[in-house]
Amino acid sequence: MAGQRRQMHLGVLLLAAGNVVSGWRLPEAEAGAQNFDLIRRATESAERGKFDFVFFADGLNTFPGMHPSMVLRFEPLTLLGALTMTTSRIGLAVTASTTYTEPYNLARMLASLDHLSGGRIAWNIVTGAFAEAAFNFSAAKHPPHEERYAIATEFVEVVKGLWDSWEEDALVMDKTSGRFVDAAKMHMLGHEGKFYTVKGPLNITRPPQGYPVFMQAGASDTGVNFAATFAEVVFTVQQNKDVAIAFVQRLRNAVQQCGRNPEHLKVMPGICPIVGSTEAEARAKLAELGALTDPVYAMKVLSERMGQDLSGYPLDGPVPTLPPSTIMQGHAITLAETARRRNMTLRELRDFVGMSMGHKLICGTPEQIADELEEWFNDGAAHGFNLLPPWFPGAFDDFVDHVVPVLQKRGLFRTEYSGHTLREHLGLPRPEHPARRGANVTRGGERSVG
Ligand SMILES: Cc1cc2nc3c(=O)[nH]c(=O)nc-3n(C[C@H](O)[C@H](O)[C@H](O)COP(=O)(O)O)c2cc1C
Repeated sequence: MAGQRRQMHLGVLLLAAGNVVSGWRLPEAEAGAQNFDLIRRATESAERGKFDFVFFADGLNTFPGMHPSMVLRFEPLTLLGALTMTTSRIGLAVTASTTYTEPYNLARMLASLDHLSGGRIAWNIVTGAFAEAAFNFSAAKHPPHEERYAIATEFVEVVKGLWDSWEEDALVMDKTSGRFVDAAKMHMLGHEGKFYTVKGPLNITRPPQGYPVFMQAGASDTGVNFAATFAEVVFTVQQNKDVAIAFVQRLRNAVQQCGRNPEHLKVMPGICPIVGSTEAEARAKLAELGALTDPVYAMKVLSERMGQDLSGYPLDGPVPTLPPSTIMQGHAITLAETARRRNMTLRELRDFVGMSMGHKLICGTPEQIADELEEWFNDGAAHGFNLLPPWFPGAFDDFVDHVVPVLQKRGLFRTEYSGHTLREHLGLPRPEHPARRGANVTRGGERSVG
């Protein structure tokens, strides 16, 4: 609307035992990872704060020394099923890997969730950041980086095709004529590709949002191309505002080259917030978290992010120069660059990651935090932010109760939801069914069922 101030988007990464490794150890933190009541309340806090979405990360393996929030967790699609019933407006974003499931299964689950929630679902498309997942899926090894993206590209095309296998008005349910479905509006997919053969149609109608919102976090060249092709929200790890601005520009250019509207891509860097009534109080909390951080855990997280075990390197030496990570390139590049800019030793980088997961740490009063978010937003470094509260529920409630009102007062964030679907919250268009655009939906082996 003309004259209306542009507003930021907010999401929260709900790792209930805390986003940072020591979060769960604070006296005020609740035992989290498998605590549905805590997850339900934190999701309600996000809805009270008018957040765009809560976001659930996922992985498909575990071991005792893993990050406490990742060593055990609810299967997130199942978890979302429960949360669709306890919430009414907030978006629900779920991580699902394209490497270890079949497109038909996932298209069906995501469509079901989008129907159950009235159009509030997003899919965080990952190829799998944890290589050892392969051993839980009868595979000898995790597919290499480029192949994972090739699989993911075909996977997403198949999923979209399955969602389009029903035209919008294919379900007739006319009691008088006895016609349940219009068979001419149900389409076979007939996909035969390099990785998948899928006949279709899907056994559930097109999701209310057309497609659930596509989210992604790739930052490698292949990851950026993938995001440019599909993603509508991109999560990113950024420490430096100018680098973040350049990343937004790089993505917008890539989106444009793919023939998409760059306005339909929202870039959301991760923020690890610590709110205090004074800056000293926030810094004291950060110090408390630091004192509780187990350096072995912190080194493990750093090694995962850098794509190589760093525990054998001298702690007080420089951060070693490593070949490009094949697991999380975006994290690795940002962390290496941060260490270089700030002249950090390996110990300092380890401790920094221990307290922030490598994301941007903002520690201060509500006004100080709002100032920094406002500056990044106004300068084009972000369309919004994905919060990673260090512990739950307190660190998140502090943000909702004290920072959100400051952002609202400045006109930077909504005071009420204006839409019902996640696409409406994010200002994203609903993808029309290809038949409405006049496209021939009987490509290749496709044909209508009737
Ligand atoms: C905020 C954020 C959350 C992520 N969550 C997950 C996740 O839940 N599961 C996963 O396997 N990968 C996750 N990733 C990793 C990304 O999906 C991606 O694999 C990674 O950024 C590497 O991509 P790249 O090699 O193209 O940079 C996440 C990344 C970011 C920045």
